[in-house]
Amino acid sequence: MKIPTFVSKFSLFMPRLFTYSDFAQGSEIVRTYADKHTPVVVCNPTAQRNVPFKVNVRIGMQAKHPNKPEHHFVYIQLWNLETLVGEVRLNSAELGEAPLQIEASFEVLPAVSLRLTAVAYCNKHGLWRSEEQFVKVTD
Ligand SMILES: [Fe+2]
Repeated sequence: MKIPTFVSKFSLFMPRLFTYSDFAQGSEIVRTYADKHTPVVVCNPTAQRNVPFKVNVRIGMQAKHPNKPEHHFVYIQLWNLETLVGEVRLNSAELGEAPLQIEASFEVLPAVSLRLTAVAYCNKHGLWRSEEQFVKVTD
């Protein structure tokens, strides 16, 4: 029996993973650069067990990010620890070419308390991870 073999080719475009804290000690320009890339999990700190719970992920609390074909966000993911909760693929062409702030909305059905993080991918500046947002789930 022949076993198929898949070959991973080296890419110069493997993204690095950044967080805001990597740039927090930088100049105002550097911190603005980090702000326009860093996703922030926005939700209530408490939720009810097995009741639909809304989680928003915002990119750019102050600054707007470019939205051109050569430079835009491609996707936003929401994670609960090591579990991928959801992913929003962004069709940047639908949003025009003006810089913008982006927000994605997710609905979670929590069974136990959550430790949420978001990851967003910019096609020019790589992967950016949010700080963790803890959500206590009660009956
Ligand atoms: Fe970027």
